[in-house]
Amino acid sequence: MGRGDVSVPGMGRSDATSWVPDGIDLERPSAARLYDYLLGGAHNFAHDRELAERFIKAQPNAREIARHNRSFLRRSVLFMVERGVRQFLDLGSGIPTVGNVHEIAQTADPGAKVVYVDYEEVAYAHSTLMLVDNPLATIVQADLTRPDDILDAPQTRELLDFDQPIGLLMAGVFHFVPPGKDPGRLVAHYRDAIPVGSYLAFSQFTRDLMPSEMDRIVEVMKSSRDPMYPRSHAEITALFAGFDLVEPGIVPTAKWRPDPGFDDGGDPDRAGIYAGVGRKH
Ligand SMILES: C[S@@+](CC[C@H](N)C(=O)[O-])C[C@H]1O[C@@H](n2cnc3c(N)ncnc32)[C@H](O)[C@@H]1O
Repeated sequence: MGRGDVSVPGMGRSDATSWVPDGIDLERPSAARLYDYLLGGAHNFAHDRELAERFIKAQPNAREIARHNRSFLRRSVLFMVERGVRQFLDLGSGIPTVGNVHEIAQTADPGAKVVYVDYEEVAYAHSTLMLVDNPLATIVQADLTRPDDILDAPQTRELLDFDQPIGLLMAGVFHFVPPGKDPGRLVAHYRDAIPVGSYLAFSQFTRDLMPSEMDRIVEVMKSSRDPMYPRSHAEITALFAGFDLVEPGIVPTAKWRPDPGFDDGGDPDRAGIYAGVGRKH
């Protein structure tokens, strides 16, 4: 990985430039940097922010949706930790922000291990910087639609024990996997690599909850590197083949085991994204 250490034309709101990889195409907005912007992060560029503003126009509660998804990720990791899981494979991990998986898991148990995976340059560069002093967490830059590149990566094999339960995290990422990549086969490939008693946490955009906003988002994202493919409740349920869904099943993110006293803003269906957790049987 190369990292820019000079100011970059069109660069974002951060003074720190070491997370800017050499050769990155600043003209092509990415989902990783859009999500970072929606969550209030500073690791994004002018074109990402333009895309994000169009995204917000198409879906006015986009920021809330992003926060709900991030919150589901946290609750699902804690759920798995409480059930004894101490190692995580986080596919489409994104640009580090508040409440990263290793922080959540290692707060519960400092020995917890995490392999992050993302194909986006800034996500990889910034994660690498963040994890430099953390021997129990790493990032693999890879495309999750090529599972063997991830499962056979030396970092993955060194850190994760595939004879012990693994928390497989696919939060907010499968809406970037086109139908032609056979999402069912992909999830099954990862499922078959992990032992019985492992868990899958999954969340993705759907048309079921807010169809017209979703249609507009799909149009907006066509001009990014990461076009989007929403899925129905039935399609997402099918991806959990081989897993027993835990209560409450596949529900809008805000309805998945909310924290006590959690305020969903009045209408949890406006979370826009379905989420669920299953245990491999
Ligand atoms: C919306 S972010 C979600 C981040 C985090 N998982 C969360 O839920 O908060 C989606 C991330 O998935 C990454 N991504 C999308 N498609 C991918 C693929 N085929 N392989 C690896 N990463 C991918 C994007 O680069 C982006 O960082």
